[in-house]
Amino acid sequence: MEFEGKVVYITGSAKGQGKAMALSFAKEGAKIIAFDLGKKIGYPSYNDASMQALEDLKKEIEQLGSECIIYGGDVRKAEDCENAVKAGIDAFGKIDILINNAGICAYAFADEMTEDEWDSMMDINAKGAWLTAKYVIPHMKAAKSGVIINNSSVGGLRGMRRLSHYAASKWALTGMTKSWALELAPYGIRVLSIHPTGVNTPMNDGLADMEGKTPEEIAEASAGNLLPVPWIEPQDVADSVLFLASDKAKYVTGSQYVLDAGLLTV
Ligand SMILES: NC(=O)c1ccc[n+]([C@@H]2O[C@H](COP(=O)([O-])OP(=O)(O)OC[C@H]3O[C@@H](n4cnc5c(N)ncnc54)[C@H](O)[C@@H]3O)[C@@H](O)[C@H]2O)c1
Repeated sequence: MEFEGKVVYITGSAKGQGKAMALSFAKEGAKIIAFDLGKKIGYPSYNDASMQALEDLKKEIEQLGSECIIYGGDVRKAEDCENAVKAGIDAFGKIDILINNAGICAYAFADEMTEDEWDSMMDINAKGAWLTAKYVIPHMKAAKSGVIINNSSVGGLRGMRRLSHYAASKWALTGMTKSWALELAPYGIRVLSIHPTGVNTPMNDGLADMEGKTPEEIAEASAGNLLPVPWIEPQDVADSVLFLASDKAKYVTGSQYVLDAGLLTV
């Protein structure tokens, strides 16, 4: 039980990669604070968030013998971010590990996207990670320890056609990662980002629906892996995150961990 006694806060944990991370940490004994939208939002159109999905996750974690509190909120809202941290601290007394994972994706050429589309992408993927961290960091500083992992993308290290707003939000996460690592190292807090290639999640299915393509076509068009796989699985990401959050990675901070099936190789 590598994470026995640890408390892990994961945003966007009702499904996809966040859910795989939550279950993997719980299997290793961690208590989970699961934050996700409790209801649908209009953009992107594939979003079908519900409190039921969070309730189901809580049940699965309890069946594993661990504990979970759920919070239905929006990472764009400071009040939700602050209240979720308060609820987590009230329940478990501390937060050891934060995974900023909530995110959205949608296609648009730069000259065709609307201001609302740009703002939603930046507000959820970038500002939401900052707002979440803003309320978690003081508790980590007081404890003089902690790990923050930001789920960026290969799009946080390269350009992506029809995804300039997505790439901009993910490069923003890369910049936040490096800056927070500088600020927080004196407190013994590690900060790093992960950069997956296409992952087989509801996000990828949603993009396929929006484009009238198969999920495989979407993954191949936006990625193009060196290894012969269209995508990686949520569990592959969770396995890496558990390693990076563990003491086995105790000197990894400020860096970008690439999980790209060779995509970025030149
Ligand atoms: N799927 C991919 O190909 C891929 C590749 C690289 C990086 N990523 C990144 O990984 C992260 C997880 O994505 P996923 O593939 O599991 O997608 P997903 O759509 O399956 O899950 C994302 C979760 O975030 C939640 N969320 C969205 N907006 C939110 C908001 N405003 N407040 C709170 N929660 C919100 C959703 O409800 C959902 O449960 C995202 O940041 C994404 O950009 C995804």
